[in-house]
Amino acid sequence: MRSILVLNGPNLNLLGTRQPEIYGTTTLADVEDMCAAHAEKIGVAVTCAQSNHEGALVDHIHAARGVHDAIILNAGAYTHTSIALMDAISSTEATVVELHLSNIHARETFRHTSYISPVSVGLICGFGANGYILAMDAVLHHLES
Ligand code: DQA
Repeated sequence: MRSILVLNGPNLNLLGTRQPEIYGTTTLADVEDMCAAHAEKIGVAVTCAQSNHEGALVDHIHAARGVHDAIILNAGAYTHTSIALMDAISSTEATVVELHLSNIHARETFRHTSYISPVSVGLICGFGANGYILAMDAVLHHLES
């Protein structure tokens, strides 16, 4: 059975209450429940984790080696700053999908730069919480093809 890590970065623990006009009203617990239900439906194993700390996210990516086939990563603001996360992804064999709830390309210009995109198989953004489901389907299809 394929295994997917859904990894969320800084401030995503506040989903549901944080700028709901941008990020929606779905909480992180709701997102994780949606991912678990969808995983059962499509026959994959899913593990969810969140951290506000860059180094802890690096540790999660390292720990995914040999454990998870894919990582769905919403690195939050570290997307736009973190060479450490980019290097961590480069050092793992896991297939990474970059994910954002909002359409980062329709927002401030500093959000148009991503250190995650060059080391990801693809990017899903702008579809809110449903993006996690789209990413699971997309990465499973990618792994199987
Ligand atoms: C985000 C977009 C980032 O620019 C922002 O810093 C976040 C959330 C998103 O999911 O839309 O924290 O990754």
